[in-house]
Formats: sequence, C-alpha cells, structure tokens
Amino acid sequence: MIFTNAPSDLDIVSDAIDEVNKLKGSDCRWDDLPTFDVDKDKTNFRQYEEACDRVKHFYKEQHEHLLQTAEAIRRDAKPEWMQVAGLVHDLGKLLHVFGSEGQWDVVGDTFVVGCKFSEKIIYHETFEGNPDSHDPVYSTEYGVYEPHCGLDNVMLSWGHDEYLYHVLKNQSSLPEDALYMIRYHSFYPWHRENAYQHLTNANDQRALEAVRAFNPYDLYSKSDEPADPEKLKPYYKNLIAKFFPEVIEW
Ligand SMILES: [Fe+2]
Ligand SMILES: [Fe+2]
Repeated sequence: MIFTNAPSDLDIVSDAIDEVNKLKGSDCRWDDLPTFDVDKDKTNFRQYEEACDRVKHFYKEQHEHLLQTAEAIRRDAKPEWMQVAGLVHDLGKLLHVFGSEGQWDVVGDTFVVGCKFSEKIIYHETFEGNPDSHDPVYSTEYGVYEPHCGLDNVMLSWGHDEYLYHVLKNQSSLPEDALYMIRYHSFYPWHRENAYQHLTNANDQRALEAVRAFNPYDLYSKSDEPADPEKLKPYYKNLIAKFFPEVIEW
C-alpha cells in the first residue's frame, strides 16, 4: 500500500529481520551460543539465507503486510483498536523516505541505551566496538536510570516503532495497549527475552502481555493470502476515521 515508493532494500532488510525473529522464536534460542555449532543451528542459518531469497521474491506482496496483520487480528475477533494497531504499526518506516541516515535507524530490534547493553540483544557481541560498552556510567546495570523507573523514562534505540509512537501518542484515540504494541513491537530483548526487568514498572509489566499478544500477528501473517486493498478499503477507512483525526502531522 503506502510503501510502494519506498526503497526495496529497506523492505528486504526489514522482512529478513522479521524472518530471523521467527526462526529465533521457533526451535533455537539466540543466546545459546555454546551450541551454535550443532546441526540444528546450521539448518537455521540456511533457512535464514533462503528466507532472504524468499523475501526478495515476494517483495511486492510484502507491501500488503500491514493489511495482512490487521486482517489476521480481525479474523481472531480482536478489538477494533488492535486491528488499527496492526494496520499502522509499521508506518514509521516512512522515516526512511523522510531522510534517515540508513537502515540502522529505521528497522531492527530495539534496545535500551544509557545503561549496559543487555546480553539478550541480538548479536550482543557486536557492541564491543561501541564506546558506551566501556563508559563508566553507560556500561553499568542501571546506567543513567533509577530502578523500575518505567520504560517511558528510558531511551530506546531509534527506529520506526519509536517514531510512530511519537507521531500518534497525541494524534489518535488509541488506548494505551495499542500504543505499547506500536512502540515496543521490535523490542525483542524485552518482550521475548525478558530483559530489562530492573527498569520496567508495574504498568509496563501489565502492557507486556498486550505487546506479546500482538507479536504473532506481525510475524506470522505474512504467509497469509495477499489482502485485497480495494475490497477492504471501506472497512478500514471507517476504522481510521474512528481513531485518527483527518490530518496527521508527521
Ligand atoms: Fe515493525
Ligand atoms: Fe510489521
């Protein structure tokens, strides 16, 4: 839909990241480094390479990812606000069109900055070259934060999730759980790996279930039948009108 003019490399990287997260969620834990050599993991690596080919091949269909996510949520009779969250959750990728510095600041798993890089972050070892890893404050467990200060008070790595959250937080009537789904859907170290428990507060803990409930629709709806935008237009136009003002500032 709206991404038809976006550069294809972004879509490919973004989809490959999703594919890796699917593989991570299946039969191999990413932090099981000592067992990286076993056949199972080699299989996963081959699957990853094949996945990259697949996402290239299905590039056109991937553009319907947002509709597919929303439709999967709708099929499960989840509330309208969650369908809408599915419909818009990746619109922050428009950042790439607006002048991002590269793929790194648009897509990819997000993580907390200002404190020790969690070992649950994908390719954690690559932070070795990041000066923050050796900073006397930023390399500590709490860094610049207070215990259980709440995710709203911590700074995450920049990406399409965080951007869209800031666009929508005051420009929609979406409930808090929908905003959590949008803001933290790439925050795998938290919602899948249970990292950063020492920074979250009770409200984050509550909303974690919402973020987790959203994740399968994001990851697994891409293999569904391609959605028909024309047929679905009236339904989603109506939903959009319910939750958003006529004009949204980006
Ligand atoms: Fe996303
Ligand atoms: Fe997505």
